[in-house]
Amino acid sequence: MKLENPLTGSMISLDEWWMPFTANRQFKAAPRLLARADGMYYWTPDGRQVLDGTAGLWCVNAGHNRRPIVEAVQKQAATMDYAPPFQVGHPVAFEAATAVANVAPAGMRHVFFVNSGSEAADTAIKMALAYHRARGEPARRIIIGRERGYHGVNVGGTMAGGIPGNRKVWPAMMAGVDHIRATHDLARNAFSRGQPAHGAEFADEFERLIAFHDPGNIAALIVEPMAGSAGVLVPPKGYLEKLAAACRKHGILLIFDEVISGFGRLGAPFAAHYFNITPDILTCAKAINNAAVPLGAVLASDTVHDAIVNAAPEGAIEFLHGYTYSGHPLACAAVVATQKLYAEEKLFDRARELAPYWEQALHSLKGTRHVIDVRNLGLVGGIELEPRPGAPMRRAFETHVKCFEAGALVRFTADILALSPPLAIEKPQIDQLVETIRGALQTID
Ligand SMILES: Cc1ncc(COP(=O)(O)O)c(C=O)c1O
Repeated sequence: MKLENPLTGSMISLDEWWMPFTANRQFKAAPRLLARADGMYYWTPDGRQVLDGTAGLWCVNAGHNRRPIVEAVQKQAATMDYAPPFQVGHPVAFEAATAVANVAPAGMRHVFFVNSGSEAADTAIKMALAYHRARGEPARRIIIGRERGYHGVNVGGTMAGGIPGNRKVWPAMMAGVDHIRATHDLARNAFSRGQPAHGAEFADEFERLIAFHDPGNIAALIVEPMAGSAGVLVPPKGYLEKLAAACRKHGILLIFDEVISGFGRLGAPFAAHYFNITPDILTCAKAINNAAVPLGAVLASDTVHDAIVNAAPEGAIEFLHGYTYSGHPLACAAVVATQKLYAEEKLFDRARELAPYWEQALHSLKGTRHVIDVRNLGLVGGIELEPRPGAPMRRAFETHVKCFEAGALVRFTADILALSPPLAIEKPQIDQLVETIRGALQTID
């Protein structure tokens, strides 16, 4: 199929780009293309407006093409396009690290830049192992993840992650991982508003695994405080507190993967603030710079940072890890501008204030055809559909397509619709999003 790039006027072919996490043959037979964006909207190449119900991919928290961010990137590109981050530094990366540290949980001011959420997960795992080794406990190498967890698709994240489809082709790329069970419990918690009441006891299984492997062999537990990619799984009340307490008790590092929950998604800078639990290591990416240029970061506590750095001889590189594009000037310029914008527009507060309206609007879908659960936290929503017998994922996929045609971008994972609009969304746009989904669900089988 041949199409035009409206920006350049060039004819494009869909054949060559092997698209990620996409049913390529299906997509290329009936592509859904986005050509332009502004504020809360995308436009298709033929000029149709599409309300962004997913902040791109959970990442454009301030809305699209915000002038201060665009201008900061343009200015940096014209001043210094690139500078190496190994043994040489550049001002904007330090400024960006300070901007992130200023919204980080207390005691987590050490910012290691990477380029994506996947790299952040792998970096966090390596940091955890380096920490225990530096302290003289090199046997602590096992990483515990959680079923249905998602930590990206690099080696560490794939292995610590718990989505079966993402693991089955690559079953044993990293030794020493185990998983606690997921917290999803439709029978007891369907249509919970905010944190579900039942399931704190799922955390007890962590103690069982600790005893099984012996605490002296376990480096870290990595969890998303609120699981996003596997379909918006909100932690039951009291559950995260139990996990954190078990980590403290056994000297196991707690890694929060905040790639989705970071930067205001729950109405606080991080989920760590929202749940009042400070991890030892925190990974983030996505909304860190409003997705203007790829960037992720790993935040380390003073304890983790100091143990690794102080164990190395003077003059030695303390953490033998990093990427060519760690702290890329363009991405860092976008961080500084984005964090300033978040603060000026009080977007994290805005998300918190909108959350009750969001919750009410989403839960109005209870009783709509196919809907077996609605769940929400901050400005995140999950709508679980009864799978069509013999055709899992079809219903959610068809809803996604219908919504796209009707002017709203809605994400799906298995038979769950996932919503995460820019924090700048207005109440009428929330209504539009929900009504578009309701309309789509009423028309599909
Ligand atoms: C919790 C979590 N961790 C890691 C990642 C991976 O991020 P990336 O796609 O930037 O590698 C994602 C992506 O959705 C995520 O949701």
